[in-house]
Amino acid sequence: MQEIIEKLLELLVSEDLKEIRSVVKEIRNSKKESTLENGNIIVDSDILNEELQQILDTKGLDRTKHYVRILHKSLTEFKQSKVSDMNLNRWKEYEDIMTDSLWLIDKRDSSGAHSNTYHGNYIPQIPNQFIKRFTKKGDTVIDPFLGGGTTMIETQRLGRNCVGVELQEDIADFAEENLSKEPNKHNVINEIINSDSMEVNFREEFDRLGIDKAQLVLMHPPYWNIIKFSDDEKDLSNCNDLETFLENFGKIVDNTTEVLEKGRHFVLVISDMYAKSEWIPLGFYSMQEVLKRNYKLKSIVVKNFKHTKGKDQQSNLWRYRAIIGGFYVFKHEYIFLFEKK
Ligand SMILES: C[S@@+](CC[C@H](N)C(=O)[O-])C[C@H]1O[C@@H](n2cnc3c(N)ncnc32)[C@H](O)[C@@H]1O
Repeated sequence: MQEIIEKLLELLVSEDLKEIRSVVKEIRNSKKESTLENGNIIVDSDILNEELQQILDTKGLDRTKHYVRILHKSLTEFKQSKVSDMNLNRWKEYEDIMTDSLWLIDKRDSSGAHSNTYHGNYIPQIPNQFIKRFTKKGDTVIDPFLGGGTTMIETQRLGRNCVGVELQEDIADFAEENLSKEPNKHNVINEIINSDSMEVNFREEFDRLGIDKAQLVLMHPPYWNIIKFSDDEKDLSNCNDLETFLENFGKIVDNTTEVLEKGRHFVLVISDMYAKSEWIPLGFYSMQEVLKRNYKLKSIVVKNFKHTKGKDQQSNLWRYRAIIGGFYVFKHEYIFLFEKK
């Protein structure tokens, strides 16, 4: 890569557009390794070739030199994001990072320890996207509704600490067992607390673990009573009414907010629901509950929602019910992204 960088640097002092184009063409056509490196700057050669082509497609000396300058800078300077390990000067390298507000994900990641045996778990791509985009290696993520441990498998893989809380003892054990199927390569802290997230004192837990603050909260609460997770009255899926659900949910938002670093992110995954032939905007009510606190809303992502195999087989029945009842069958859920002010 050094040779390419030197050639680009020379072009910056040239006033001859023809010469610039010919050198850029030569670099673009040269044989390259699939990945090039300059210290901690990693460059995909296909992306580099696209950038070189963009220079060749540009008209005029000034504009062409402008793009040469940008390319040279991106190959020599690492611009660290404040909240992730991404090099912002090479933003095109992160093709796997989703930036649209509509997520249509066909297949759940079922690699390694990820399994779909826990009814009501989320697809691993959700935590994966937010951990990569909003945390750095060594940061700490909180998941107050850990379930089968999807978040923790992802944090462990990506080298982030995770403090997860799960109310049901057998499910907390299940999460632990799942997690042990993969090596803790980055030697991160994985803390599974079998407790009620309304009661957990995260400050004390963090002090015990030697962690100062969390850099991301990922929340995937029960969608009120759509799936009943246990008989425990502290289980959010057992709240008698919507007000109690929101009140209890709010307590968990308060608890986690206390240890979340300022300027960092809070992610809420939830859907709306039907009750007595009425659409209940549970997602938006819950969003409002977060916004009563010290947060600003950064995005609302709509994600496709796959029904379980059983429900899929009944798709005609659902369609029939929808037509008769004058409603639409749920095919989406929400991912709300907030930033702590
Ligand atoms: C939607 S599931 C989370 C699934 C998880 N994201 C996964 O991928 O496995 C919600 C979980 O929250 C747990 N839960 C409900 N109320 C809770 C509370 N008050 N404190 C802690 N966990 C709770 C339930 O037992 C259930 O496992």
